[in-house]
Amino acid sequence: MGEYRLLLKHVDVPDYDDIRVYEQYGGYQALRKALSMERQAIIEEVKKSGLRGRGGAGFPAWIKWNGLPKDDDKPHYVICNSDEGEPGTFKDFELMYKAPHQLVEGMIIAGYAVRAQRGYIYIRGEYVECARKVRKAIDQAYAAGYLGKNILGSGFDYDLYIHMGAGSYECGEESALMSSLMGERGQPRLKFPHAPLPTIAGVWNCPTLINNCESLSCVPHIINNGGEWYAQLGASTKNSRGTKIFSVSGHVNKPGNYEIEFGTPLMELIEMAGGVRGGKLKGIIPGGSSMPILPAEKCEDAIIGYEELMEKGSMVGSGGCMVLNEHTCIVHFAWRTAEFYAHESCGKCTPCREGTRWMVQILERILQGKGRMEDIDLLLEICDQIDGRSFCALGDAAAWPIRAFIKNFRHEFEYFVQHGRSMYADNPESQKMFPPKGYQRYNPMRYEYTFGSVRK
Ligand SMILES: Cc1cc2nc3c(=O)[nH]c(=O)nc-3n(C[C@H](O)[C@H](O)[C@H](O)COP(=O)(O)O)c2cc1C
Ligand code: SF4
Repeated sequence: MGEYRLLLKHVDVPDYDDIRVYEQYGGYQALRKALSMERQAIIEEVKKSGLRGRGGAGFPAWIKWNGLPKDDDKPHYVICNSDEGEPGTFKDFELMYKAPHQLVEGMIIAGYAVRAQRGYIYIRGEYVECARKVRKAIDQAYAAGYLGKNILGSGFDYDLYIHMGAGSYECGEESALMSSLMGERGQPRLKFPHAPLPTIAGVWNCPTLINNCESLSCVPHIINNGGEWYAQLGASTKNSRGTKIFSVSGHVNKPGNYEIEFGTPLMELIEMAGGVRGGKLKGIIPGGSSMPILPAEKCEDAIIGYEELMEKGSMVGSGGCMVLNEHTCIVHFAWRTAEFYAHESCGKCTPCREGTRWMVQILERILQGKGRMEDIDLLLEICDQIDGRSFCALGDAAAWPIRAFIKNFRHEFEYFVQHGRSMYADNPESQKMFPPKGYQRYNPMRYEYTFGSVRK
């Protein structure tokens, strides 16, 4: 099927981040059209498009848009989630850096549709260059009359702000993001059905629409071309419509962002990225590090779609597609993944706070050649205790990959425990991926204090 560039179509045009160039390529036409439409008609177009959230969960966008009250007098807000913390994902970076006006236009249309007065673009702390580009785009949009009071004479007032995060993965979780935005500690809040949805009581307890940067960047295309046109893309899949940007990294020849139509075979995406380098394919993590790995044999006939990848045992997630070649030691990889989630756990709930650190401790014990055979099932047991029992989905995200590594590559863990070393220990290709000898993420004393004498 090949690459299908919709959001990334013009990103290589020189100065596309400048408003004059963006307008030359049709920019802000969708906003003009939207302002001439009834608000509900815009939501209907989003519904027809079949757009699902690109931040990870794939929730239908229109349901959120339609969920904000239509006759209250509270302020309404739109938030763009550009925290992009999921390892392996770097698509929002490119969208903000190279096409910031596309996002700004999407934010204004969303604001108009849900009767918001203010929008916030929450940008990951490390993405300083993106924030500068988006800042310039916002300033230019104000100067052109696309933001501020009485936009293009429509009577619609709307302001847009940037809020920089401080580099916390958890602050990408929508309720933690809203806490962070309000100046509180970046920890999640209680969710529906125990608490109201953000569309009813979000930021400052007011109705809030929160969508991912890629989701909002789709909006100008949906309005320009119509929801039905958009929904034709991906029509071969069960329920995935439009295009999706995958950030392909790892053992491929041409890592980068590739936009494809849903329904494209997974292996075709890898071919777009120049194919696997350095050996045969071992597995692919299609949707970011929190998603379960697909071993090579399952990748062969895998089709990219929300339901299609789920049937194979993984997920589209945020589109952080990580490719591993045959020389990758899965035990090391599992440890590195576990280490990330332990570091990013916010500490609010016990299963995730204690479980993620415990998993790192066990994996480090295995890496040091001191593992016990029962450690492998203990890891699975901890995954079961974290998954579905944590306060937010970071816990699930920490458990899923480790469980899938063990289920698909158990023999590598067993070999490591039996021999006290990786089954790739003598392979120079694999050694390049090992951490420096003696490297340890956490101070062992801390474990002894926390876990008694578990460490041998
Ligand atoms: C731990 C955690 C981190 C998340 N990080 C992000 C993120 O960086 N960007 C994002 O868009 N969504 C992230 N999400 C998902 C958001 O909570 C939310 O579902 C999303 O922003 C909704 O937008 P969408 O419907 O357009 O996908 C994260 C979720 C969790 C549990
Ligand atoms: S699962 Fe619990 S400890 Fe982990 S990030 Fe969410 S709230 Fe914090």
